[in-house]
Amino acid sequence: MASPALATYFDTSATTPPSEAVLRAMAEVQSTAWANPSSLHGPGLAAAEQLERSRQTLAMLLGCDAEELVVTSGGTEAIHLALLGAAATLQPGRLLISAVEHPATQAAASRLAERGWQVQILPVDCQGLLDLHALDALLAPPTRLVSLIWGQNEVGSLQPIEAIGSRCRASGVLLHVDAVQVLGHRPLQFRDLPVDLLSGAAHKLQGPRGVGVLLVRAGVPLQGQLGGGGQEGGRRAGTEPVALLAGFAKALELARQLPSTARLRDPLLDQLLAIPGIRLTGPAPGPQRLPHHISLLVAGPDGQPLSGRWLVAEMARQGFAISSGSACSSSGSAASPVLLAMGCSEAEASSGVRISLGPWHTPADGMALVAALTRTLDRLREVPVETTR
Ligand SMILES: Cc1ncc(COP(=O)(O)O)c(C=O)c1O
Repeated sequence: MASPALATYFDTSATTPPSEAVLRAMAEVQSTAWANPSSLHGPGLAAAEQLERSRQTLAMLLGCDAEELVVTSGGTEAIHLALLGAAATLQPGRLLISAVEHPATQAAASRLAERGWQVQILPVDCQGLLDLHALDALLAPPTRLVSLIWGQNEVGSLQPIEAIGSRCRASGVLLHVDAVQVLGHRPLQFRDLPVDLLSGAAHKLQGPRGVGVLLVRAGVPLQGQLGGGGQEGGRRAGTEPVALLAGFAKALELARQLPSTARLRDPLLDQLLAIPGIRLTGPAPGPQRLPHHISLLVAGPDGQPLSGRWLVAEMARQGFAISSGSACSSSGSAASPVLLAMGCSEAEASSGVRISLGPWHTPADGMALVAALTRTLDRLREVPVETTR
């Protein structure tokens, strides 16, 4: 049974609460291995030993060598280090990204555009899946770098990373994958993937905020973007967050033991789709969709799209946490660029909501959510229509 607050929290794609075991592991490490791991005295060596233990655990769980793992402050930093760090070792050329990237990738791509790179956006289909023909057509000079989101945060689509990676390999083009939504939700062995660089963050899998990783395939050149100490093999300066990395390792260890959230997600999705006016966005449940993720377009009794933000606020009034689009873009325009790229109209693209589950949820939690959503939509008949759009 989840705590009452967690039972109504359906926004795990934005962030997750650290689990008790993670908090305990971090408290223990923070009090015993608090010293600077670069220091050559006893407390420093103890911290270095603990850091190495966490690094080895993460490397084992992620299927990479410990030297391939660079500790960062989270997904955004890992993505910037991947793109800017790899590009700094190459002649400026063409960078390919998709039309449904997280804003962190778009921002890093803009930096490269300022440095003489040509950034080309690959289209997606109506489910948010990459057009592989468009990729094939552009995997030739001057393309030198591709960066793609694996699990799309807003519409849950999982790109065919193996197929994409093989194409990039065959063309001699470096591939970075944003796996921030995938880590902890899908088994991942870096050494088996045709991917050169891969970003992840602990806070999406009940680990702490403030720590992430960039996996860098051995032999792939990467220039550090922060000056200072020579930590992380010179690829990321700064005193390492020993306790946060221990929390990350514990969270990933626990995530591996959890049953897939799809077992709860699938019946919940069926109940939601039975509500008039609700449609799924992104791929149907299965191998092309994140297992904890539901994304919907919502229309009112008149069949016209509602405002996703209005619905989120109404659900919050009833104590439920869901989200409209991605948390990171919820302060911008109401129409989601991701839904627009998938071919939705401007009004539809403002009517998206996301419901993302955690391992603590029960079928009863899902039923309570459906009841609250149904109540909200029923009440629409009494609300002036303009306040809902
Ligand atoms: C797909 C994706 N990439 C990158 C990020 C950024 O990660 P962070 O918040 O750890 O910086 C997020 C966060 O929402 C995300 O969902």
